[in-house]
Amino acid sequence: MRFSENSLFVAPTPVKLAEELAGWFYSQVFNHSNASKKYYIALSGGTTPVLFFNYLASYYGKYIDWGRIHFFWADERCVPPDDNDSNYKTAFVNLLSKIEIPSAQIHRIRGESDPHKESVRYAEEIMSIVPLEDNVPRFDLILLGMGADGHTASLFPDQAELYDGNKLVAVTINPNTQQQRITLTPWIINRAAKIVFQVTGFAKAGIVGEILQQKPEASQYSASKIKPIHGDMYWFIDAGAAKELFK
Ligand code: 6PG
Repeated sequence: MRFSENSLFVAPTPVKLAEELAGWFYSQVFNHSNASKKYYIALSGGTTPVLFFNYLASYYGKYIDWGRIHFFWADERCVPPDDNDSNYKTAFVNLLSKIEIPSAQIHRIRGESDPHKESVRYAEEIMSIVPLEDNVPRFDLILLGMGADGHTASLFPDQAELYDGNKLVAVTINPNTQQQRITLTPWIINRAAKIVFQVTGFAKAGIVGEILQQKPEASQYSASKIKPIHGDMYWFIDAGAAKELFK
């Protein structure tokens, strides 16, 4: 895993981090040299991206040609789209409802459907829409968070089968809540062109430090299994999450 200094961005607060990430998103994803390129992006869930979503909508919403973006999700809770737990709802309320994006370019995971059938359907949708490289869908950007237990997307510990084989999408269970989830697998995440972790808070500093310093104990966390095969990875963290990093 390559961590040149330009892969790590540390901001003093979560608000400043959201501003930094929104600016990066605009500059990186919108490669101005190719005005017709479409971008295929998978969003993360949880609460960390809320500030980023709002900042992106408020300050860049009118400057980005959203008609060039297809939004997918890295994972979803198996709940209806109007449930407060829904990652789609979080993105809709804070970003999608505030920008001009064709609804046909919003590819949510249907949390209200049978999880196993939906995991197959979602994988087929990804295969049919995201450009293939060596017959593998390659997202331009996948945005991820990390839980205080070191999980990312809905990849939880002790589900080793997730890390083998070449499945695109899997059904998992959050061991803390027993809630079923649908998630992209490391196999497809690691094939993205750009992977971004956005992590804030002192509670996550220990694991962030272990992963970024490639400590042996980091291997227990699913976030450490995210290693781009032929892309780049970036960590956007705030001072709290960076606390153990510069010891
Ligand atoms: C989810 C997410 C999950 C999340 C982390 C961080 O559906 O819960 O995809 O991987 O990114 O748990 O969550 P917070 O941002 O709420 O801390």
